[in-house]
Amino acid sequence: MNNSIAILGAQWGDEGKGKIVDLLTEKCDIVVRFQGGHNAGHTLVVDGKTTVLHLIPSGILHNNVKCIIGNGVVLSLDALSEEIEILKENNIDVNNQLIISNGCPLILPVHIALDKAREVKKGKAKIGTTGRGIGPAYEDKISRRGIRLGDLSNDRELFNKIEELLDYHNYILKNYYNSETFDPEKMCEKLISQYDFYKGYIADVPEYIENAFKDNKRIVFEGAQGTLLDIDHGTYPFVTSSNTTVGGIFTGSGVSPKKLDYILAIVKAYTTRVGSGPFMTELFDENGKILSERGHEFGATTGRERRCGWLDLVALKRSIIINGFTGICLTKLDVLDTFKKIKICTEYKDDKPIYEDFEGWNESIEGINKFSDLPKNAQIYIKKIQDYLNVPIDIISNGPGRNENIILNKKFS
Ligand code: IMP
Repeated sequence: MNNSIAILGAQWGDEGKGKIVDLLTEKCDIVVRFQGGHNAGHTLVVDGKTTVLHLIPSGILHNNVKCIIGNGVVLSLDALSEEIEILKENNIDVNNQLIISNGCPLILPVHIALDKAREVKKGKAKIGTTGRGIGPAYEDKISRRGIRLGDLSNDRELFNKIEELLDYHNYILKNYYNSETFDPEKMCEKLISQYDFYKGYIADVPEYIENAFKDNKRIVFEGAQGTLLDIDHGTYPFVTSSNTTVGGIFTGSGVSPKKLDYILAIVKAYTTRVGSGPFMTELFDENGKILSERGHEFGATTGRERRCGWLDLVALKRSIIINGFTGICLTKLDVLDTFKKIKICTEYKDDKPIYEDFEGWNESIEGINKFSDLPKNAQIYIKKIQDYLNVPIDIISNGPGRNENIILNKKFS
């Protein structure tokens, strides 16, 4: 196994990263989140029990794994404390496992209000955000007026910063969106009281990671969302507001690119997307419904139905260029079990997808652990993906459980 692995979504998110991070962290010491916020939803199924995490890295269920929230993550203290409480109720030793950067920009209630008001104002042209305040919080970071976790340690300065921030946003909320405004004193008071809860978790993340590498610890960098939602490289403007691609790791955690050994793409065996925006291979027929139902394609964060379609190799090729993936983990292959015919998009022509047809395997592959035990047609489907993308498929996930995988690369076994 490599000392450091990045696990990144190669499509529009919801590729099944949580399960794979959880699987690989069995042999890891540290998991780092470096971008996004509680717009993410990572579903883990362990011993039949489902846990959905939004902010805390997926390694938290292994009690010897440290979980780091890097400076690139926008942090809702309300959402995080809720998650911490749930984990504590389940006897997870969060206090001992969780580490947070004091550089994390905070998502404040005003950001959530702005996010929602904007979407309403945009009407049909809305982005379909998760309504978690992600965009406005990142905007405040970039505009240098944001509040960071570390700012909560200085009450007097905090009040001035919040007053200035709200002065600006309240004006827009009141005059442009005709909506509710926020009181700086109340906001400041609440944040100061929350700091007591959080200060024990704060550490210097770049130094912590540097020391961990020196001690030969194994580190997983856990991406949220997917490549095609990247603010720079995604289907702009229908994207999230962070860098979901490999570069986000370095800016969002303070680790050097030289330290990354392996970049694993999580690729769903078909395609889904939540929210608005282009989706070349989207299906509006019975096949789309089957994918949605068999794949339980409802958002882990918002419960929204995901749009479903065939696998799009053209989009994935782009994803590979940007991230330089070393290997692929193909997920949810078992969702395709009942199809007689399966299509893969290999080309776009006149803005339309061109497909190659494949025979389905029409039998259950759930839980098969050896590639050679897969039906021939499933093997052909997998090989096509690998050959087209020219990146080895190292893991195949064929069921939601921790052990429902085919491991093809010894590094992961
Ligand atoms: P935001 O991140 O809430 O601003 O939403 C922007 C876009 O990213 C919308 O299309 C969302 O549906 C999408 N999005 C955000 N987080 C996720 C995720 O974890 N999985 C899939 N789509 C997401």
